[in-house]
Amino acid sequence: MERVCVTGAGGFVASWLVKLLLSQDYIVHGTVRDPCDEKNSHLKKLEKADENLQLFKTDLLDYEGLCSAMAGCSGVFHVACPVFPGPVPNPEKELIEPAVTGTRNVVNACVKTGVKRVVVVSSVGAVMLNPNWPNDKPMDELCWSDHAFCNQSQSFYCLGKTIAEAEALELAKSSGLSMVSVCPSIVIGPMLQSTVNASSLLLLTLLKDGHESLENKARTVVDVRDVAEALILTYKKPKVEGRYICTSYVVSMKAMADMLKSKFPYYNYPKSFTEVEEDVKLSSEKLQKLGWKYRPLEETLADSVQSYLEIGVLSKH
Ligand SMILES: NC(=O)c1ccc[n+]([C@@H]2O[C@H](COP(=O)([O-])OP(=O)(O)OC[C@H]3O[C@@H](n4cnc5c(N)ncnc54)[C@H](OP(=O)(O)O)[C@@H]3O)[C@@H](O)[C@H]2O)c1
Repeated sequence: MERVCVTGAGGFVASWLVKLLLSQDYIVHGTVRDPCDEKNSHLKKLEKADENLQLFKTDLLDYEGLCSAMAGCSGVFHVACPVFPGPVPNPEKELIEPAVTGTRNVVNACVKTGVKRVVVVSSVGAVMLNPNWPNDKPMDELCWSDHAFCNQSQSFYCLGKTIAEAEALELAKSSGLSMVSVCPSIVIGPMLQSTVNASSLLLLTLLKDGHESLENKARTVVDVRDVAEALILTYKKPKVEGRYICTSYVVSMKAMADMLKSKFPYYNYPKSFTEVEEDVKLSSEKLQKLGWKYRPLEETLADSVQSYLEIGVLSKH
């Protein structure tokens, strides 16, 4: 049985990853900031968690703690990173430092503890904020977000992810560590955890907030379970290195609301949408060529609503 470490195990994406790893008979070391916090209690209820999941208390800024969690592991999935639903008062401390220093600590700890392969979860936020990319060309793995543009647009989360990913790829290369980075678009889908994460608010806002008017923005989305599959798929192919964009659909907010409404008509949907000029082209062809597949959006939306009802963050009518 192979032993792997997952950072930020209690989060939205990581919980699905841990569940999938346990189902494939991996022994999982999950790092969490507080193992006793109720928000991590779902982890202990996962199938095979009793035998094969061990939680380690550590922060991304605690290098020694990371080394302890990784000891004995052949692989690491670095998933942890703060994701906030809106602007934060001190982006340098709250976003950039945990993303950049945290990822550097993870890569260095991998090298120190003899980990063979690391998968780093980046984001399309490290890809898409690039005003110099040709309009007619889908953005692919060669496209990197522009630091100055991120700063100007106050997209500090994207800036942190961009610096962290680029630095991790460099550091891994110079240290001889096998690394792949996966860049998901907006992750939606059923939640395993009981506290609502930032990207799940995308659907909950459509279902609950009853906006008079909402901008009909185009969103790039992917199901959380398909992200977890992508992380394991790339991990299992040792020759695979570099970046992989992980996205399934470009869908407008109105189209998504209409899909939800056709199945769940009784929620408090936006009353109208205003049109915005946008042309989003993003390609996950590279990942699909590895054999990655994704599920229909209808399934993602239906399963999401089901999970919101079960967790109690949405009422039946
Ligand atoms: N969701 C999306 O739409 C999306 C899209 C692209 C990429 N991503 C990336 O996917 C990863 C997971 O995101 P998510 O949506 O699953 O978010 P999430 O549910 O908020 O999970 C984030 C996790 O990171 C942990 N964390 C934050 N700061 C930390 C620190 N300083 N030290 C240790 N752990 C820390 C959190 O632990 P606590 O519970 O203790 O706060 C939490 O477990 C992140 O790397 C994110 O950038 C997400």
